[in-house]
Amino acid sequence: MTAMTQDFKDLRILGIESSCDDTAAAIVSRQMGVAKINSSVVMGQGQLHAAFGGVVPEIAARAHAERIDLCVEQALSDAEVELTDVDAIAVTAGPGLIGGVVSGVMCAKGLSAATGLPLIGVNHLAGHALTPRLTDGLVYPYLMLLVSGGHCQFLIVDGPTAFTRIGGTIDDAPGEAFDKTARLLGLSQPGGPHVEEAAKDGDASRFTLPRPLLDRPGCDMSFSGLKTALLRARDSVVSEKDGLTPQDQADLSAAFQRAVAEILTRKSQRAIEVYLAKKPAVPGFAVAGGVAANQEIRQALMALCKSKGLTFTAPPLALCTDNAAMIAYAGLELFDTGHRDDLTLSARPRWPLDTASAPLFGSGKKGPKA
Ligand code: KG4
Ligand code: ZN
Repeated sequence: MTAMTQDFKDLRILGIESSCDDTAAAIVSRQMGVAKINSSVVMGQGQLHAAFGGVVPEIAARAHAERIDLCVEQALSDAEVELTDVDAIAVTAGPGLIGGVVSGVMCAKGLSAATGLPLIGVNHLAGHALTPRLTDGLVYPYLMLLVSGGHCQFLIVDGPTAFTRIGGTIDDAPGEAFDKTARLLGLSQPGGPHVEEAAKDGDASRFTLPRPLLDRPGCDMSFSGLKTALLRARDSVVSEKDGLTPQDQADLSAAFQRAVAEILTRKSQRAIEVYLAKKPAVPGFAVAGGVAANQEIRQALMALCKSKGLTFTAPPLALCTDNAAMIAYAGLELFDTGHRDDLTLSARPRWPLDTASAPLFGSGKKGPKA
């Protein structure tokens, strides 16, 4: 994975990520202005949490603490470098499940104290938001839709620390809604891919589901009412037939997916208007997060961008979902700005990217929203 960046000095950054249910470490380097992922190790915890229907913070924290050193060792060995070959250590310092974030920050501080290497605390959301620069060399300012199990927001990205949040969910994240839908329909977790698969054989018009907040101005979104409407639609089928047929599952999945795609696309249209008012030289739209893997959503956003004259970027799935390469890359851009942290760096459960925007209420399945 390569991308042209500005002509800055050669660098090699170790990235560490542990804010949710993936323990990850990566090495990202830049040589002659080209950024490259040398290694990216992700140790998922899906199996540890499967029986609980969601991420259990205490189990996650313990698993991070047990695996993080192994993960760092693996990332160094995969990249065929030693810790002494690294220029700085970048670590997710929030937002996220605090026990996990503390594990990562403690590991990074230990490595920094032992080696004297600079320490850089990275906002996890900045990692997601800067990924299109690593993968596709997107130029600032671009519009970003971050859409996953824990996040959903529109950001105008002007620089590694310059984010303007122009809207987002006021309740659940779409990934949470996909997961809940899968549970309601008797499909496996994580729900998104299974709902998408089921929807392939479905008729999206058989059930009428709401599109909350579309009648209101602005770029804010809501998904909890959609979840409830799906529950009612399912219950009415179940009470009629005493169960769901595969066709019912398919039709409900298709109706749900169509509703999410429409909400995201219509609100993206508004976000694009706000963004274009900035008159960007090269207008660009990027999407990241697990839900960005959904083909119907991706195609709808791509078509919208085409019609509005914006480039459309969706990083490969492994870099859309949680990983440490994005943290290393964000650390690299922060390093360029002269940003350095010290051993007083603390873990932050909440850390909004745009500190000027109003705080959000509610907490996603995968931790507090920011
Ligand atoms: O970004 P991610 O891996 O983790 C965080 O939430 O940070 O996103 C996971 C979410 C899950 O809720 C999952 O159901 C959803 O992304 N997802 C999808 C698809 N693949 C994953 N949702 C819709 N369609 C998909 N194909
Ligand atoms: Zn994430």
